[in-house]
Amino acid sequence: MKKVVSLLLAAVLCLSLAACNDTNSTVKTNNDKLVVGFAQIGQESGWRDAETNDIQWYAARNTDTIELHFADAEQNPENQIRAIRGFIDMGVDVIAFAPVIETGWEEILGECKKAGIPVILVDRGIDAGIDSSLYTTMIASDHVWAGEQAAIVMEELLGGSGTVVELQGTIGASATIQREQGFDDYMAANCPDIEIIDHQSGDFTRDQGRAIMAAMLETYDHIDGVFAHNDDMALGAIEAIKEAGLKPGEDIKIVSVDGVKGAFEAVLAGELNCTVECTPLLAKQIFDTAVLLKAGQTVDKWIVSEDDIYTADKVTQEIIDARTY
Ligand code: AHR
Repeated sequence: MKKVVSLLLAAVLCLSLAACNDTNSTVKTNNDKLVVGFAQIGQESGWRDAETNDIQWYAARNTDTIELHFADAEQNPENQIRAIRGFIDMGVDVIAFAPVIETGWEEILGECKKAGIPVILVDRGIDAGIDSSLYTTMIASDHVWAGEQAAIVMEELLGGSGTVVELQGTIGASATIQREQGFDDYMAANCPDIEIIDHQSGDFTRDQGRAIMAAMLETYDHIDGVFAHNDDMALGAIEAIKEAGLKPGEDIKIVSVDGVKGAFEAVLAGELNCTVECTPLLAKQIFDTAVLLKAGQTVDKWIVSEDDIYTADKVTQEIIDARTY
């Protein structure tokens, strides 16, 4: 009886895995449709969920022309590599993926190139030392720009002097490296009286943002500003600052990146001073680009998203209501 139950459980597990992650499938793809394999990073932030929803929603609305194979790598680059290999075996037309970290992609991208499958990098890039002919294009925001804009806003909020801590994203991710570069370089070149006293990774998650902010508040007597590499970590930091009996947005100025609805609400409440946008709504661009690539056309090497800067004077209830994520 025990054996029968175990077999049944194993069968149910296989079925549910196939439903979420179809990269193990040996079924060959449908030639009439645009077939895209997308390997997502995981579910570390509200922003990431918005990107996933946008891609799945777009594909679901266009099932007559698009076949999407989706894999969730659960924050593990090895899972992404496995998923991409699965897409190659399936013979998809185009592979898209958001690289968890910048490095380690040479071998799998070489396999894509050998199979003649164009690759779109989505929302994050790969290390500049990797042969750029191994991918076709990147659709992403300019993360260095976002870091610089955050620094310019922080400089103004602090009146040119004070101490700042940085809540970094996933270590080794291009979004982390480039946001830090944009922020730190601007500060080094323009703000001699602003000192960045600590950098720590909160892995782009709300819980870790809260935990590292709480630890920093214990460690340092005085913190004037927080630069969080994403909104989720800023929202976690706001909780920690309140728990420490301080007023976020007043006692400690906070600037973050993403522009999700929850961050806009915090700006309107005066608890977050600014969020620099990084749009997750990339589905239309991804599928339009994939159509061109399937037809053998060339596209720009970097398709840059247009983003905005949301300070308190810009965020209204109307803007919040219009935000879908
Ligand atoms: O690569 C984009 C970043 O990844 C977003 O800023 C962050 O919220 C996400 O997890």
